[in-house]
Amino acid sequence: MKKIAVITGGRTGIGRATIERFQKEGFQVINLSRKPVAMEDCISLIVDFSQPDWELAVKQPLEEHLQGCEQLALVHNAGVHVNDHALEIDPQGLRRSLEVNVVAPAILNRLLSPYLLPGSSIIYIGSTLSEKAVPGCTSYVTAKHAVVGMMRSTCQDLVGREIHTACVCPGFTDTDMLREHVGGSADVLKSIATVCTYNRLIEPKEIADTIYFCATNPVINGAVLHANLGQVEN
Ligand SMILES: NC(=O)c1ccc[n+]([C@@H]2O[C@H](COP(=O)([O-])OP(=O)(O)OC[C@H]3O[C@@H](n4cnc5c(N)ncnc54)[C@H](OP(=O)(O)O)[C@@H]3O)[C@@H](O)[C@H]2O)c1
Repeated sequence: MKKIAVITGGRTGIGRATIERFQKEGFQVINLSRKPVAMEDCISLIVDFSQPDWELAVKQPLEEHLQGCEQLALVHNAGVHVNDHALEIDPQGLRRSLEVNVVAPAILNRLLSPYLLPGSSIIYIGSTLSEKAVPGCTSYVTAKHAVVGMMRSTCQDLVGREIHTACVCPGFTDTDMLREHVGGSADVLKSIATVCTYNRLIEPKEIADTIYFCATNPVINGAVLHANLGQVEN
């Protein structure tokens, strides 16, 4: 069976670990990100989801690579973390957050719809901040809440097509995004780890394994999965 995974933002972090996991399971992987992913046997399509009309550049190569695909796993992983305050939002930051986190998955769903045969899946990557808010990142919280809404709508709109969906919501995962968010401070990372009940950050591979499980188990259709090692509530 020809199995293909289309994974966005696979150059680093959770996306990269997800590519490795799908490759291990015999999927041909196509990555979409701004810079190519340097991994053997991984097809990279260069795209910036924050720019208008990006789909024109990827439509044809995607269609060519997806010919004959019998099972497609579409993983909407690319994301940007915008720090801002609810009363001082820069519309450009909010637009970028929505374009990358929400609009890009919507466009890809439409582009790849003809290849989503029974047995295929659409996995969204949300965040702990998909269902709660913390101060100082309104655009990110808003976009990640929207991701859950899109996943639930996907579930309802695909009734009868035997395509399943889920939203995996990572907690504090040791990636470039988290390190940049804390300004590269090892002390802040250490203190963030204490928020997890295991007193450590999550490894990207742990999220990748969860994503793979969701992509290949239709019983979780419509679920929001919190993959955050249990967060300590004060
Ligand atoms: N790390 C965490 O603690 C955490 C927690 C909750 C949720 N998440 C979510 O997990 C997902 C993966 O994040 P990560 O932690 O693995 O971060 P990461 O290492 O920064 O990965 C983000 C990926 O998105 C791609 N990307 C960013 N902007 C893009 C754009 N405009 N167009 C196309 N691709 C773009 C990047 O590739 P290029 O730079 O090559 O474009 C990069 O590979 C994100 O959706 C994030 O919100 C992460």
